[in-house]
Amino acid sequence: MTIAYGGDYNPEQWPEEVWAEDMRLMREAGVTMVSIGIFSWALLEPSEGVYDFTLLDKVLALLQQNGIAADLATPTAAPPAWFFRAHPEALPVDRDGRGLSYGSRQTFCPSSPAYRTAALRIAGELARRYADHPAVAMWHIHNEYGCHNPACYCDESAEAFRRWLRAKYGDSLASLNDAWGTAFWSQWYYDWAEILPPRATGAVPNPTHQLDWRRFCSDELLALYKAERDVLREAAPSLPATTNFMVMFNFDALDYWRWAPELDVVSNDHYLRSTDPESEIDIAMSGDLVRSLAGGRPWLLMEHSTGAVNWQPVNRAKSPGELRRNALAHVAHGADGIAYFQWRAAKAGAEQWHSAMLPHAGTDSVIWQDVVQLGADLKALAEVQGSTGTATVAVVWDWDARWALELPSQPSEELRYLDQVRSWYEPLWRSGIAVDFVRPDADLSPYRLVLAPSLYLVDEAGAANLTGFASSGDTLAVGFHSGAVDENCHVRLGGYPGAFRDALGVRTDELFPLLPGESLALSSGGGTASLWSERVALAGAEAITSYAEGPLTGIPAVTRNAYGTGTAWYLATRPDPTTLAGLLDLIRREAGVEPVRVTPEGVEAALRRGADADYLFLIDHAGKGAEVSVAADAVELLTGEPVLGGSVSVPAGGVAVVREPR
Ligand code: GLA
Repeated sequence: MTIAYGGDYNPEQWPEEVWAEDMRLMREAGVTMVSIGIFSWALLEPSEGVYDFTLLDKVLALLQQNGIAADLATPTAAPPAWFFRAHPEALPVDRDGRGLSYGSRQTFCPSSPAYRTAALRIAGELARRYADHPAVAMWHIHNEYGCHNPACYCDESAEAFRRWLRAKYGDSLASLNDAWGTAFWSQWYYDWAEILPPRATGAVPNPTHQLDWRRFCSDELLALYKAERDVLREAAPSLPATTNFMVMFNFDALDYWRWAPELDVVSNDHYLRSTDPESEIDIAMSGDLVRSLAGGRPWLLMEHSTGAVNWQPVNRAKSPGELRRNALAHVAHGADGIAYFQWRAAKAGAEQWHSAMLPHAGTDSVIWQDVVQLGADLKALAEVQGSTGTATVAVVWDWDARWALELPSQPSEELRYLDQVRSWYEPLWRSGIAVDFVRPDADLSPYRLVLAPSLYLVDEAGAANLTGFASSGDTLAVGFHSGAVDENCHVRLGGYPGAFRDALGVRTDELFPLLPGESLALSSGGGTASLWSERVALAGAEAITSYAEGPLTGIPAVTRNAYGTGTAWYLATRPDPTTLAGLLDLIRREAGVEPVRVTPEGVEAALRRGADADYLFLIDHAGKGAEVSVAADAVELLTGEPVLGGSVSVPAGGVAVVREPR
């Protein structure tokens, strides 16, 4: 087995003469697997029920001859024009009631029965035709569910939403009225038919209505995934199925904790944000989250880019060495496959300015050289395949909490879930601390430290799981505006931070969010606080630092509480990055958590644990090169050289992967 290498292959964009060159160059680059057919519905089914598999037959045969596996897609992300002419009701309607047209991709209503029928029909045809094809290694179901159509507000969707609500609330409107708090603003519902999607309305819509809507939208797309998967499974019971997740900065439509168990292999797409000066941290964080979604098992990076994308205001190219650092960082965080969008850069179409493995410039290009080099690197890392992570720190990540925190009419709209999680993740990453992500109700026994930044919404079971972790001897650190509401978005009364008040040994009677740009001096270490403050009263905890100015002068900003046989910290504000790093360092030291390796600043260290060896990834993002201590009998896998003298050299801007036998 090797680490899979490849990308989206769209031969339908090119005349047949080009395909032979594709095969030759794929072999030259060491490509082992490509995703095909993702956007080929209009070609495969030129009119309803009429199929033409000529292209797929030919391409699969070519791939087979060249020893390249196919990750065969169901083409259901891009229904053909004929489908919408026959079923205009399957086109989505946005929140403002605007009907969208076909002419791009993924513009369909997730609750449309006509879409579902058509999607399952083409999936079934493909499944029966190619179930036993020797080139087909995996099904790639749809593409990035919800990327362009996370929600549809049409009447069909309203019906589906009502069905979902009836199931959730046991057919009881009284339960729904209670859960949604409809006594507020005269929103009582007396008939299920009165309930609508949260369409554009004059003032702030009901928060629980909106939250249930987000849950419904995620479930509705998941139902489509499962329906396709079941059709494929019936024809090909032993072929694994995946769909590419979008665990990255700007996408929050799907609750992937609910999705992941339905996939045979978890895969993810990740792109860099041009404005993020440290996107390597985003790669690490998303990799850790995807590995955690996969239950600790390896996962596949289904898409990223060799260079610039085409969908940001300005699309930054990658710096020298960045392609290699990016790809190997995904491997470091658990990827057992590295793939790009796409194999050959398109000359026409909506993504003609998106980079690819084979750029417009052809093989006489830096990107192509890097792509060939990466193929060789991944071959050299074959033995890493199957190894997993080693974290003893878990960060709580929850889509329900993210959705609820970012509903309108919060104390501060400056508070964003991803920003908070990332601000806590960053110092851990800089110190080489291995991190998993967990749901609030996860099994926490592998961990010594659990961090819960701004876990605004948490149910009783989740809160009890987290506080029980602390009371039984471990360490919990909770960020501000946590535990405030239950699963219905109802505020927990008696003081904040609701569900965590007792464990943290504090009680807040009033929140004091800070204005953009405002910061307050803290009493110790010269630090400052921004974004948030609260009037915390100690109820058993000790103050670690307090506000040194402003209306809360003298009030605790960070506290520590001995709770049961463990410890519970409360970070009631956002400390400046240096202060936060110092605090998290103190917290993890007290919890007995050590870095996977101490490295110079800017050199990332991540560890994968194999059956009888550890694999230490060292990635120099600072561009200075470094010497890092490793085991005496270690081998650097990218060069194949034994490491002499117990110290490995990481080249400037480069990567070293060290096998340390255990
Ligand atoms: C997404 C899609 C691809 C392509 C890329 C471009 O990830 O899945 O089809 O559009 O974005 O970055």
